[in-house]
Amino acid sequence: MRNLKRMGATLLALALVLGMNLTAFAAVEDTGFSDVSADAWYADAVAYVRDNGLMSGTSAAAFDPDGTMTRAMLAQTLYRAAGSPAVSGSDSFTDTAEGAWYADAVLWASRQGVISGYGSGLFGTDDPVTREQIAAILWRYAGSPAAEAGTDFADEADISAYAAQAVDWARASGVVNGADGNRFLPRASATRAQVAVILRNYLTASAPAEPEQPGESPRVLVAHFSATGNTARVANAIAETTGGDLFELTPAEPYTDEDLNWTDENSRVVYEYENPDARNTELVTYTPENWDEYDVVFLGYPIWWYDAAWPVEGFVTENDFTGKTVIPFCTSSSSGIGESGQRLAGLAGTGDWLEGQRFRSGASDADVQAWTDSLGL
Ligand SMILES: Cc1cc2nc3c(=O)[nH]c(=O)nc-3n(C[C@H](O)[C@H](O)[C@H](O)COP(=O)(O)O)c2cc1C
Repeated sequence: MRNLKRMGATLLALALVLGMNLTAFAAVEDTGFSDVSADAWYADAVAYVRDNGLMSGTSAAAFDPDGTMTRAMLAQTLYRAAGSPAVSGSDSFTDTAEGAWYADAVLWASRQGVISGYGSGLFGTDDPVTREQIAAILWRYAGSPAAEAGTDFADEADISAYAAQAVDWARASGVVNGADGNRFLPRASATRAQVAVILRNYLTASAPAEPEQPGESPRVLVAHFSATGNTARVANAIAETTGGDLFELTPAEPYTDEDLNWTDENSRVVYEYENPDARNTELVTYTPENWDEYDVVFLGYPIWWYDAAWPVEGFVTENDFTGKTVIPFCTSSSSGIGESGQRLAGLAGTGDWLEGQRFRSGASDADVQAWTDSLGL
């Protein structure tokens, strides 16, 4: 490997760095390297890459922060960050040495498409890695995410086409910032200290989220009124597919078949329909146990005269839906759900009411499941 080119002024390095949250990281008391003082701008990044086994010193006592990072070194660092997965075979580059310390890393990086060679069989093993190369390499390592172009750097025109999107991504995600004068300096080679900072920025920003703890999934209630069983069947299917609890809204005086005969002008429903004051249907229970614990409330009803059957209204007005997502659903012979959901939301005055869903009276479990799946609960 040829001698590592040194970059001179630390100030230039500081200007180059890519300094998301530089001050957000606590200063380290002792870096363990004689050439990295505890108050250096890169000290905690060096500690991070050392503690995470990503970069080691160039000797037992030295980190060589101003030393140039070669492409082979970067391959090795990313390979370690990926957990050093097993590889077999050998690469086809003409400038890599079989069995070298970087051999597995270069093989892995080229096979993953993270660091491709220059063409003509060259990997550029000992070449210093440039700032635009680092951006491109990390971008590919991150899975080539799409990025907004954002504000151009003053030297945007100097950025190679292959790295343009990667630089946009790196800037947008806080992995790199510009140097003085809003310059990116795409062809400047990066020091080991700079690479440590970039890697720390990238890896801490992309650390996987904490896995969701059991019990954090929303608790679901499926409340429903059903006079002839159609809405109840849909409610059962919703509870089945969402793991929700059923809560049936039962009128204190149940509706008989005669009561429901809307073709009989003397029936109960016709009377109640024609006399809104009589629609105040008393329920056996208005509030389920553990009401406060539910995050999502499905609310089901049949359509009566193009609107929600009124026996659900007592449930809506008697309960506080604050903090809950409410999802109306209905069954009907042919009418749509219309404005019924909005009307109930207005009666409730609380809760986050989503657009509702109408099912035909004979809806299948598969119809219901397709809908609940689409909700992505
Ligand atoms: C009083 C009454 C009024 C109804 N009005 C309508 C209506 O306006 N539009 C419609 O498509 N179906 C209407 N239907 C049919 C019901 O909405 C449909 O049968 C529904 O699936 C019944 O649900 P359930 O079995 O849960 O009570 C009405 C039924 C009754 C009893």
